Amino acid sequence: MFGKKKKKPLIDQEQLELIQHAQKRVRQKKGLYNHFIFFLIIGTCLIILNLVLGFGSDFKILNQDWFVIVLLLWLLMLFYHFIRVYVTHKFMGSEWEKKQIEKLTAKQQERINQLKEGFLKEEKLIAQSEAFNQTKESTPFIETKPKSNLTIIVAAGENNAIGKDNTLIWHLTNDLKRFKELTSGHHIIMGRKTFESFTKPLPNRTHIIITRQKDYVAPEGVIVVNSLARAIEIAKKDSQPFIIGGGEIYKEALLYATKIEMTRVHHDFEADTFFPEIDEAIWKVTNTIFHEKDKEHEYEYSFITYDKR
Ligand SMILES: NC(=O)c1ccc[n+]([C@@H]2O[C@H](COP(=O)([O-])OP(=O)(O)OC[C@H]3O[C@@H](n4cnc5c(N)ncnc54)[C@H](OP(=O)(O)O)[C@@H]3O)[C@@H](O)[C@H]2O)c1
Repeated sequence: MFGKKKKKPLIDQEQLELIQHAQKRVRQKKGLYNHFIFFLIIGTCLIILNLVLGFGSDFKILNQDWFVIVLLLWLLMLFYHFIRVYVTHKFMGSEWEKKQIEKLTAKQQERINQLKEGFLKEEKLIAQSEAFNQTKESTPFIETKPKSNLTIIVAAGENNAIGKDNTLIWHLTNDLKRFKELTSGHHIIMGRKTFESFTKPLPNRTHIIITRQKDYVAPEGVIVVNSLARAIEIAKKDSQPFIIGGGEIYKEALLYATKIEMTRVHHDFEADTFFPEIDEAIWKVTNTIFHEKDKEHEYEYSFITYDKR
């Protein structure tokens, strides 16, 4: 089913080169050794020939027996051979060293190119962010009272508690129903943590997640942005976008929102996330509907609508 596997070489090219060079070194050293032995044997023979057998005993060079001069010249050659093996060809030889330097230079060039690419990407991001900030400065939603119909929807305890351990603290069926009725068919803007508190995206709504992470991966159809301003910009085509939390995003969004649809749960809760204090100089209550507690609702609660003054 999977076909025959191709035979893979047991050693890679680099290892092979090292072995070949090591073999070359051994051959060089062996050559020098053989040269030395040859020198000893022939030298001894020359001495015997001249001194014992008297061959060419009358022949002198520079007033010396000829074999002395021959042996001296040979010794010089032997010394030159020694230098070639142990000094000139030190390490793996000049050719090998040249190759290594070329390899190193190529690796460094590759790294320089990678760094250059990184810088270019970073520059592009900075340019995009600067361009975005410039457009942001000229967009209406940095004003405290924008014309868009941006609504915060939240359920908070009397002490403004909204969540604990990244979950809701209470279960109020009517609150969930109201949330569904109001937000269905619209854009819902939320912080990354709130999104992650859902088991899956809510049906029939366009999710916009805000995160500082550049590579945040979200399910298909979910929009990911890096700022609230960008989220609002995207949701502008919707006549009624909602900010659905959590604490961090509510805090920032109060500046841009025009309406708050609050479910006030009449109880103090232990929590780790809170809704900011509502400034009555900025917000006025335009509608309140009070509900008693019942079988499905453990606490009394009120639906309160605030409009920006
Ligand atoms: N009662 C309610 O009506 C209600 C509604 C919603 C949520 N909640 C509760 O609230 C809690 C979650 O709220 P939370 O305050 O912890 O988290 P959150 O506001 O949902 O999300 C915070 C995350 O949003 C991103 N973020 C925040 N400000 C940003 C900015 N200016 N630019 C870019 N990204 C930004 C960051 O994501 P990264 O870390 O990825 O960068 C940050 O960690 C949970 O307990 C939840 O159940 C309650």
